[in-house]
Amino acid sequence: MAITFNNGTFQLSNKHMCYAMRLLDGNLLHLHWGAPVNAEEIGVTVKGTAFCPTTAYENGSYFLGNLMQEYPFFGVDLRRPACSVELMNGCRAVEPKYKSHRIYDGKPMPQGLPAVYTEEDSEAQTLEIVLADSYAGIEIKLFYTIFNDLPVICRRAEIKNTNAGYAYIHAAASAALDFFDSDYKYMHLHGAWAREKHVEINDVHHGIQGFESLCGHSSHIENPFMALMRPDATEDSGDVYGFSLVYSGNHRFSIISDQNKRLRVMCGINPENFKWKIDEGESFATPEAVMVYSGDGLSGMSHAYHKLYRTRLCRGKYRDAVRPALINNWEGTYFDFDEEKLLKIAESGKNIGLELFVLDDGWFGERNSDDRSLGDWYVNKKKIPSGIDGLARKINALGMKFGLWFEPEMISENSDLFRAHPQWRICVPGREPHPSRQQFILNYAREDVQDYMIETLNSILKSADISYVKWDMNRSMSDIYNIMAAPDRQGETAHRYILGLYRVLESVTQTNPEVLFESCSGGGGRNDPGMMYYMPQNWASDDTDALERIYIQYGGSMVYPASTVGSHVSAVPNHQVGRTTPLAMRGTVAMAGMFGYELDLSKQSAEDIAEMKEQVELYKRIRPLVTFGDYYRLSSPYKERYAAWMFVSEDKESAVMSIAYMLAQPSHLCDRIRLKGLDPDAVYELDGKQIHGSTLMNYGFVFECNKDYSGMMYEIKKVK
Ligand code: DGJ
Repeated sequence: MAITFNNGTFQLSNKHMCYAMRLLDGNLLHLHWGAPVNAEEIGVTVKGTAFCPTTAYENGSYFLGNLMQEYPFFGVDLRRPACSVELMNGCRAVEPKYKSHRIYDGKPMPQGLPAVYTEEDSEAQTLEIVLADSYAGIEIKLFYTIFNDLPVICRRAEIKNTNAGYAYIHAAASAALDFFDSDYKYMHLHGAWAREKHVEINDVHHGIQGFESLCGHSSHIENPFMALMRPDATEDSGDVYGFSLVYSGNHRFSIISDQNKRLRVMCGINPENFKWKIDEGESFATPEAVMVYSGDGLSGMSHAYHKLYRTRLCRGKYRDAVRPALINNWEGTYFDFDEEKLLKIAESGKNIGLELFVLDDGWFGERNSDDRSLGDWYVNKKKIPSGIDGLARKINALGMKFGLWFEPEMISENSDLFRAHPQWRICVPGREPHPSRQQFILNYAREDVQDYMIETLNSILKSADISYVKWDMNRSMSDIYNIMAAPDRQGETAHRYILGLYRVLESVTQTNPEVLFESCSGGGGRNDPGMMYYMPQNWASDDTDALERIYIQYGGSMVYPASTVGSHVSAVPNHQVGRTTPLAMRGTVAMAGMFGYELDLSKQSAEDIAEMKEQVELYKRIRPLVTFGDYYRLSSPYKERYAAWMFVSEDKESAVMSIAYMLAQPSHLCDRIRLKGLDPDAVYELDGKQIHGSTLMNYGFVFECNKDYSGMMYEIKKVK
């Protein structure tokens, strides 16, 4: 790995890739990102075309709007910019030129924002480039980090006001990247509540395309991830470029094919309703974008993200630990429970080998329905006479850990907290606010609200033996206004909310390092890398139907490792879609993530309980593979009638393959799956037979199954 600067050319290279930039008259141009090259040999064409503004310099003239730029500003380049700043005189044209650069080992962390980290400086190198426009009084610091062994570049920017007076930032992308041509497709993960992360692949066309969130959270609708793919790229071959934003709020991904068929890709905070004031000497820091290049198709991209996010984004004790198999009472009881009922469920969980009992929504205030009590984080003794502490002790006495649900960012109108602090909710003064799930959002842009929540949560977590927290968030942001901020700072509110949230999360997770935190936003409304920095697990969707989950988990697997995916077996008919799938299929699908059950275990048949016991035993055997192994997609549910995937240990000694057969077909013979990631020369035992890795990978595994909703799992062991 090395970062070099020779003859005006910056190169960030490792064995997987090269990322290169060139200085031309102080302009920072993009040269190349992809398979290794010698970038000093690349020429830059400065030719103009009609209507293209000209800039003169000592060697002639050039046309910025026809050049591939690294971090374009609004002004001379006439395409959508990465950054747009309004100066005090109202002018928006900014022309930053190279000022200085620095290359060093390691990776600096942005203040108050989540980001990928290094443990040793030798793991990565960083390049900082400073651009400046002395007329505008604006300085931009661009950060690039390259890792030793991964095809990853982390990028972000800081924009500083060096003038006396103020400036407003209207847009500041985390990364912008110009490609030489537009012959690409792009994949994004779109959806809705309980239907998140569905894969959609579109051809790139002329003009602007893309996707965004304006929900105040990263959203179920568009995950902050995109893969740009050459048209011939497949699961295992071809050029793929991943863009993943380490951010939990409003985002925008733009893909712009211009008049010269150049392509500009940008991602960052959504500029819509964003306006950030920087006073003299102040800087604004963008979130980080994590970009991956793969010459080995989607699988190469996913492997890089999985490894990086599992080991250098997630933190804390549970980063390197297997997670407890759990029982959550939500779909089993909803709000209708008492202590006795909960203990019965916990006992049945213990009986099948589960290790953690999670008490979901409904344990506090007067919370017997979803129209009240958010904010009143004290136990409802009518339901739980022993209190949280007493209940936790009873659960511990069964030999299980105890976990608790919170929704700390919300407030119900019908709550003591609202009666005491009506001004703490986000709303527009004098205007009727818009409830969603009959609740409102606490203004986390306020420091007093942040402090109150830190204090409240830390004291509850101290008051009882709570080993797990599910941190939920169940509405999008409307009526955005911060009564504490001046009129020209209202455009800061949505981002300040996220910064406030990150401050609370940092404090609560660091104060309680023994607790396993799982984030949730009505399932996958905030299934993003920003949250993963604080919480190593995410409840991937409120849809627990096995068939629906196949698509949700397939899409999520493009970027997020299985160690971050909360996945449970629930009752049938399924509560979201009414579908009945056999327990084997539900178990197979749920075991592709951090496994648990979410139903009233005390009401299951003896036959099902026996099968569940076997499932839990199997999960405990394979969970090191699921948590730390390499994940391979073996088929696409969009193309085949089955979904298949496998996990392989790093040393290739063991693996587990799962097949979820979705729909049967008449006149069907058999199917063949080619395995991946094994040692070709080793002999493995699979389904009672001894077979070479080469045979399993190059010929494949043939199976006969033609039954709707079948779930099959195969443990694979190297024998020679
Ligand atoms: C939404 C979550 O996704 C569910 O799992 C559950 O915790 C409910 N909220 C509780 O209100």
